[in-house]
Amino acid sequence: MSFYIAGTGSALPEKVVSNDDLAQFLDTSDEWIYTRTGIKRRHILTDERLDDLAVRSAEIALQDAGVAGKDLDLILCATMRGDTFTPSLACIVAEAVGATAPAFDLNAACVGVLYAMEVADSFIVSGKAKNVLIVSAEAMSKLLDWTDRASCVLFGDGAGAMVVKAGEGRLSGVLSTKPDSHVIRMPNIEGLNSPYNKIEQEKLAMHMDGGEVYKFAVNAMGKNIEQACARAQLTPAEIDWYLPHQANLRIIDASLKKFKIDKSKVLTNIEDCGNMSATSVMVLLDQFAKKGTFKRGDKLLFVAFGGGLTSGAVIINWNKD
Ligand code: ACO
Repeated sequence: MSFYIAGTGSALPEKVVSNDDLAQFLDTSDEWIYTRTGIKRRHILTDERLDDLAVRSAEIALQDAGVAGKDLDLILCATMRGDTFTPSLACIVAEAVGATAPAFDLNAACVGVLYAMEVADSFIVSGKAKNVLIVSAEAMSKLLDWTDRASCVLFGDGAGAMVVKAGEGRLSGVLSTKPDSHVIRMPNIEGLNSPYNKIEQEKLAMHMDGGEVYKFAVNAMGKNIEQACARAQLTPAEIDWYLPHQANLRIIDASLKKFKIDKSKVLTNIEDCGNMSATSVMVLLDQFAKKGTFKRGDKLLFVAFGGGLTSGAVIINWNKD
């Protein structure tokens, strides 16, 4: 026994920024961004708080699952940075939904939701939890260098959530790291108030070698799909729906090419949302679940890569009407 997905939710900032909007202050164009990445627009936080989006998505997922906050046994939040260092975003969500379960944030960059699903699986398999809330929220717009056209055009903000319950659903999971501190790097604040700090502050922005990330991503996504399918004793053709990390449409196409998968099985929202880091696959799941795309018994494969460098894939049987 492991878990099944019992409810999903998502919440996006109201403000939508198009590629043409970006071209007003950057040397870029809709044509360049769309043909290189598949992105047309993204949601960006203005006067809303990330906390509030995270809570809203959690409330929707709890209602969808028919689970009350007080009945949760664990709350995990996949994020690179909440609005406060402490309390964690997971604790803020716990307070809002009336839960007293253990709650903590987890940072595996864009693969965070898959790492959280595997942690939830361990708690459930070991008998420590029955109902787990997984939330993901990212304010990428607050971490970017808005003068760097090669990175800031790629990202968006958002929040998503799922409730997983003990039962039959998860079929397999694979997580891995290829440790590298240069290819994607986003520094934290260095010794802000310490009179003793002697370490120089790096520029607070994302530094990324796009070409190297691209190569890693295509290779890692392909490998993780093969391994997760092998563990679930399935072939890639037997997967009904692919939910890949939404970093770049060309990366998605290139990593799935060798499996000769029917393109209609590969779900995307990158055109409207850009890359929301860990939150991407969560919002994707909720949007397609709410459209009624998944039927009971469908096999869903989540696959992602991100800073760290982290990667992973999880396969689940959709066990919900
Ligand atoms: N608009 C116009 N021109 C641009 C832009 C832009 N926004 N950005 C870069 N360029 C220019 C470059 O300066 C370069 O010009 P030059 O040839 O005169 O030097 C030219 O376009 C080509 O640049 P390339 O890097 O070759 O473009 P490429 O086709 O590789 O696409 C991209 C770049 C989109 C960044 C791609 O490499 C990519 O998607 N990489 C992966 C990024 C990624 O997935 N990041 C996720 C990070 S992990 C996380 O999610 C936290």
